[in-house]
Amino acid sequence: MATEQNVDETEIAALVEHARAAREKAYAPYSDFPVGAALLTSNGGIYSGVNIENASYPATVCAERVAIFTAVATGARDIVALAVVTRGAGSPCGICRQVLAEFGTDITVIIAHETGTVREVTAVSLLLPDSFGPNNLKRDS
Ligand code: THU
Repeated sequence: MATEQNVDETEIAALVEHARAAREKAYAPYSDFPVGAALLTSNGGIYSGVNIENASYPATVCAERVAIFTAVATGARDIVALAVVTRGAGSPCGICRQVLAEFGTDITVIIAHETGTVREVTAVSLLLPDSFGPNNLKRDS
């Protein structure tokens, strides 16, 4: 289990600021709970996401997954860290933890308030221990 922090304070601050800026674009008319996320890839790319709600509530997608899917859709899969910004510094939901784990249990997760104050710097391996992942599908596992 890799829990060494793989981002420095400057990168953490940049990710939080990108997540805060993204949060302004959240589409959350039903919950009034806007969320912004931003992730860093190994080549220095930053990809943002927001929660996008739907009148058919289960069709809603979280900010973290929008950021991840946006990165992957452009060919960027080597995710180093992801910051999420909410009112009250909420932790990523279970589905987002699972989607993060697909791309690395050593991904750093930064959880911050909407003010930019960081509440916690953790890792996917700590948020989702003993996760089911790509290795479990290998025939010789
Ligand atoms: N939400 C996220 O975007 N990320 C999370 O990790 C938790 C929840 C969104 C989904 C929904 O639009 C709103 O927050 C309330 O659940």
